[in-house]
Amino acid sequence: MAKLLIKSGCILRGTVNISSAKNAILPVIAASLLSGERCILNEVPYLEDVKVMGEVIKSIGARFEEFDKESIAIIASELSNPEPTYELIRKMRASFLVMGPMLSRIGRVRISLPGGCAIGTRPIDLHLKGFAAMGAAISIGHGFIEAYAKKLKGESIYLDFPSVGATENIMMAACLADGVTTIENAAEEPEIVDLANFLSNMGAIIRGAGTDTIKIEGVKELRGAAHTAIPDRIEGGTFMIAAAATGGDVLVDSVVPEHLKPVTAKLKEMGVEVTEYERAIRVKSCGCLNPTDIKTMPYPGFPTDMQSQMMSAMCVAKGTSIATETVFENRFMHINELKLMGAKIKVDGRSAIIEGSERLSGAKVKATDLRAGAALTIAGLCAEGYTEISDIYHIERGYIGLEGKLRKLGADIERIEE
Ligand code: EPU
Repeated sequence: MAKLLIKSGCILRGTVNISSAKNAILPVIAASLLSGERCILNEVPYLEDVKVMGEVIKSIGARFEEFDKESIAIIASELSNPEPTYELIRKMRASFLVMGPMLSRIGRVRISLPGGCAIGTRPIDLHLKGFAAMGAAISIGHGFIEAYAKKLKGESIYLDFPSVGATENIMMAACLADGVTTIENAAEEPEIVDLANFLSNMGAIIRGAGTDTIKIEGVKELRGAAHTAIPDRIEGGTFMIAAAATGGDVLVDSVVPEHLKPVTAKLKEMGVEVTEYERAIRVKSCGCLNPTDIKTMPYPGFPTDMQSQMMSAMCVAKGTSIATETVFENRFMHINELKLMGAKIKVDGRSAIIEGSERLSGAKVKATDLRAGAALTIAGLCAEGYTEISDIYHIERGYIGLEGKLRKLGADIERIEE
């Protein structure tokens, strides 16, 4: 098992290039199933989750070809198997995003219930309510969902919560349905807009993506299209916080500054100098951070995927900060690990009260999930002595070459195989 070994005392300086977004490319791969023609995806981040998604669509009968370093072709001319491989669906929740396209394209699917995961129970009731409203017959038993629909029908669907996955799944299913589907209280995340752009290039008729009401007019068929996903705002934000916490000066390049507004606003509150350019953000910090409070919310609120990284910065701020998690019920697992590094954090329900101290101390810690791993990496950069992070396969699900990018910025960090 690989580990990350981080030695303290670095101040990050230089330029870092941000990759395409994992959370944008995964739904786009699923959406490729809606056409029988070839789809080409460029600048694909070859992360573990992307590979799993490739295996999922192969298990349905699509072709997934990696034809050069960062491009893939997907050809779903025939979807011969309505049952994606059980182990793959259990491995990664996002693989559930194939349900909408399959139902719409071949009218049937038998798929494993994705189950809970480290950050919460993560039900899929909103996805299923949407499909049922569109006329799908759905039954659940023995850990599987079976769904049939000769032809989905456009319907008005109100989401009780603006779920990213449910919005994506229903939007994809609606593209080939009869009539108009309206999703109200839809998620507004940039990844939704990116998916809508890809679907539109395939010939779908979608209005309102990026607002809380999305209208999709069903068409008979979709054509193949090429796509490059948006930059990864969470990877970008992770480097912004790492620069701020280490007292560094980093140009976070190839990002959309608009997508990172909540992180920019909070870092400014913490006394960090943040300058926005057209496609880049410069973060300059003296290392003396003010405390702040955050509350995670659907976009454009502060992203839950940045809560743990921000908490690491709060641990080295001068004063008391509060982080409130409202999106997932169990996204505080990094706290016990941060405590091993000397962090002073108390949990009160959905809030964590963080008493900042000048320095953390290096320790052996465990990445309990993807973003927790990123948070511990930031904490390790700010800690005295050595920090050893185990279970870094979580980190590698969502960050391309994190240690290499940090090393280029001056960090003393090494990936060691055991
Ligand atoms: N929810 C329901 N019912 C549903 C769907 C969701 O109750 O049918 C609840 C969830 O349990 C959760 C909340 O709604 O409490 C938000 O879940 P959402 O569906 O919005 O999240 P997701 O689509 O499963 C995506 C990202 C997550 C990110 C969330 C929130 C992908 C592949 N995953 O998950 O990313 O945290 O949106 O922004 O896009 C990560 O990258 O580390 C990650 C976990």
